Order: sequence, then structure tokens, then C-alpha cells
Amino acid sequence: MSSTAAVAGKAERLKAGGVEIVDFGAGQPDFSTPENVKRAAVEALEQDYTKYTDTGGTPELKEAVIERHAADFGSNYTAAECIVTVGGKHAVFEAVAATVSPGDDVILPVPYWASFPEIIRYAGGRPVLLRTSEDDNFALRAEAVEKSLTPATRMLIVNSPCNPSGAVVPSSEMEKILHLAARRGILVVSDETYSHFTYGVQGPYSLGTTRNRENLVVIGSLSKTYAMTGWRIGYALGSAPLIANMLTLQSHSTSNPTSFAQKGAVEALRGPQDAVRRMRAEYQRRRDRIVAGLRAIPGISCTNPEGAFYVYPNLGKFLDRDGMADTTALAAKLLDQARVAVVPGPGFGTAQHVRISYATSMQQIDEGLRRMQDFFAHY
Ligand SMILES: Cc1ncc(COP(=O)(O)O)c(C=O)c1O
Repeated sequence: MSSTAAVAGKAERLKAGGVEIVDFGAGQPDFSTPENVKRAAVEALEQDYTKYTDTGGTPELKEAVIERHAADFGSNYTAAECIVTVGGKHAVFEAVAATVSPGDDVILPVPYWASFPEIIRYAGGRPVLLRTSEDDNFALRAEAVEKSLTPATRMLIVNSPCNPSGAVVPSSEMEKILHLAARRGILVVSDETYSHFTYGVQGPYSLGTTRNRENLVVIGSLSKTYAMTGWRIGYALGSAPLIANMLTLQSHSTSNPTSFAQKGAVEALRGPQDAVRRMRAEYQRRRDRIVAGLRAIPGISCTNPEGAFYVYPNLGKFLDRDGMADTTALAAKLLDQARVAVVPGPGFGTAQHVRISYATSMQQIDEGLRRMQDFFAHY
């Protein structure tokens, strides 16, 4: 079980027992799926749209994915370069499984989304961890990637905006990284699950517009962008041969993504986009509040995340006081004593941090900050 799931499980058990938890553990939007999207899926069911579809997604949905990506980012993918998957997670799994063989190295920037190292190892690869610097806002730099290369490097995983740090890789670095990967024949997996939620100087940005595209696979998801985590619709955009291999894997594992969920996804991508803009504006407001609140707590330091809906504060000062090696026990105390659920850093590859999701109401954010202030004041 991932550390995210462990905290969520304990918080749920406490909540079920009537304890009022401020839950910063969730990795999903607190918003509902937009009404027009729900209606499209209901209509599909009513029209008996309940059979198998094309394995890699309906032609209609693939076209909608390609058009939305072109409209948002200026890309020009074709249907042969697109596959619709059961969530973005399975797109990552397929891209890695179709590319990585035993003995291959995969560069993985730290902190990382907890599933990446597991997927790499499952494929027989070795995660080569590349620590990004907190002083540099956890930004991934091309120079650091170059230093991590080994003769066995087959792949680099980039996740911008990043879960858990919220870091956004500067576009100038991205270009250099892609150039480097093309030169060395390395596949870049660009996990753009949070692409629409950016709050810094750099707006929504996809690597999928670059000229070095044969060495790139873009992973996208409707889960966060349209508040559709339970629908399980994601996609990949990449070279036709890689997409064909992913399709083979998919045809012998999940088969097609759920038929009526695909109809909802078409509406999400082709319908009005104002819900995305509203969610983005609200996340930004919450980010500002929570970063300011955390920085006001003596002993906590916190980078300013430029995307996604997580903050990744450093609690190292409190670990020193107790001689603790990482934040696992500290997060457990925070849940037991202050009734605040956060996810400890070791699941993301760092010892001193916790991940706080601000995909929750402003009122919960304020209450959680108040509880943390009390907890750490007496720690
Ligand atoms: C970085 C990252 N990639 C991919 C995913 C997968 O999302 P889904 O499978 O719901 O599309 C997540 C979900 O938390 C994520 O944080």
C-alpha cells in the first residue's frame, strides 16, 4: 500500500468513528465533476452505450483529446499517436512497461509521485534517483539530468507540475532536457496530469509541442483537470510505434476504458472550459493562504509551489528535536493529537517533508492551520 493510501485509511477510520479530522491527505479535487459531463455519461447509459469500444479509446474521444491538446498547447498529434487509457496511471504503466527492460536505468527526480519507482521496478528497471534542491524550489535542471546519465539510461520521468512538491520545471530547462534526451536516445515520459493547474509566471505548458517529439511521451489525465478521478480516463500522446506497443499491452490487460465514461470525457474536452478556470483560480487562492499560514508557524519552512494542489513543507527542525529520522512518526502524532491528516515524505523520497493537499475547502484549510499552529507551538 502507498503511504498516501495508509494515511487516507487511518483518517477514514477515525472519521467513521466520529472524530473530526482535517484531511490534507487526499490527492484528488474536492470539486464535483461538472454537470454537463455527468449528463453526457447518463445519456450514454440511457442510450445503451454499454458495449466494448475500440481498445485504445473511441475515435471520437481520441479526436477530442487531440483537439483539446492542440487548443490548449498548440500541438498537432494524429490518431495513431494517441491512446486513451484507464486513468493516467495506467498510461504511465504502459509507457514504462513497453519501453524498460531488466537492466535499464530510469532517471527519477526526487521528490517523486509514489507510484513511479514501483512501476519502474515492476518492469525490471532501476530507478536512478536525482535529488532536486529545495533551495532551487525543487526545480529539475538539465545539468543535473546530464550528471545522472549512465550507459544503461533508457528513460527519464518528468512530472511538472510535480506531485508532491508542486514544482514546475522552467520551460527553458525542459527544452534543454529534451534536447539532451534526443541526443542520447532516451525516452522522456512527461507526466502532465496537473498541466492545467499552474499559478506562477509559467502558464499551462505541455512538452508535446516540441520538435524533439520522437523521444517523448506525454501522459495526460482528466482526473484532476475536470474533477473526474473516479471515472478513470487518461491518455498518452507519443510516437506511433510506442503507442502501438502500449495498445498491445492494453488489449491484453484492461481492454477499452469504460464506454460511457468515454462519452463523459468527450463532453469534458469539447464542452465549456470555465469549470477548469474556476477550479484553477480557487486552487491558487488556497495555495496562497496555506503557504502563508505554514510559513507563519515557527520551525516550518515551505517552498512556494507553482502548480498542482500540494504544498511540501520541511519539518526537519522538529525531527531534530526528537532525533527522528523521518516524518512518518511525526505525521502519525499530528493525526492522533491534532487530528490533521498529512502524508509523510518518505513515500515521495524525502525524509524531512510532509505533503499537504489543499484540494479541500478554505474553512478546512484555516482550521487545519490553526490546529498545526497549536501542535507545533507545544512540540
Ligand atoms: C503525478 C501523477 N501522475 C498520474 C496520476 C494518475 O492519475 P489518474 O490515474 O487518476 O489519471 C496521479 C494521481 O494522483 C499523479 O499525481
